Amino acid sequence: MRERYAVVGNPVAHSKSPQIHAEFARATGQDLEYGRIEAPLDGFERTVEEFRRQAGKGLNVTVPFKEAAFRYCRKASRRAQAAQVVNTLVFSASEVFGDTTDGIGLVADLTRNIGFDLSGKKLLLMGAGGAAQGVVQALLDAGVSRLLIVNRTVSRARSLAARHGVEACGYDELHGQSFDIVVNATSAGLADEAPSLPDSAFKPGTLAYDMVYGRDTPFLAQARSAGARALDGLGMLVEQAAESFFVWRGVRPDTRPILAGLRGGQTL
Ligand code: ATR
Repeated sequence: MRERYAVVGNPVAHSKSPQIHAEFARATGQDLEYGRIEAPLDGFERTVEEFRRQAGKGLNVTVPFKEAAFRYCRKASRRAQAAQVVNTLVFSASEVFGDTTDGIGLVADLTRNIGFDLSGKKLLLMGAGGAAQGVVQALLDAGVSRLLIVNRTVSRARSLAARHGVEACGYDELHGQSFDIVVNATSAGLADEAPSLPDSAFKPGTLAYDMVYGRDTPFLAQARSAGARALDGLGMLVEQAAESFFVWRGVRPDTRPILAGLRGGQTL
């Protein structure tokens, strides 16, 4: 029987992960199937237990269950412990191992695909929810010289920042400050909204990166009109998927063809 994997979330119908993992499996000759599972908002654990009973080998976890997945796993990687969120679960007969590949996926996209060297850079991270939590440690490990977390609810930014020994503030405290890179880890773009970021955050050459993919968010539009280079999170999606695939299968797929295919809108 082919080994079973899936992405679990709510909503999950839009997820490109099945397409990406099917292509990774084809390209690397791995015999597996990868589906998508919508768990009820109050039924994450139940859904995972059912998947395990059906001999499921691993899950990707997406919104809004990444914190629940961290609580669910019995062992967690160092990077998952730092993030306190899990997007990759690995099941064996008696163990549940949790990992988070979002941070390394973001850094891989920035450095390898985009060619943006993070070392010594001033970075503004917008948001303090699960998406932001997943990437702080990896950005610090990549050598940024400053990492400032800004959030609408400032107390959330402060508690995330305190865990990592970095600074936090509210949007109204940003006036007059500029950054080499601004990463949008808020879900604002999904509602066609933008955080109230002053244009002064951007200077010529600033990279504006929205973790949301597949749509031109108001944040990216603002960044472009302020003279910044604006990019969406499709590359991060593919890179975090490749890292999850490696965690499960011990094989690292080449991300370039699938990223090019998704960017070109081709059918894979
Ligand atoms: P996720 O797992 O996607 O991070 P989340 O934990 O609900 O989801 O967090 C959503 C993040 O987007 C939060 O940082 C939220 O700010 P608050 O903590 O103040 O709620 C942020 N966010 C959502 N909509 C926003 C908006 N319109 N403007 C600014 N920030 C927004």
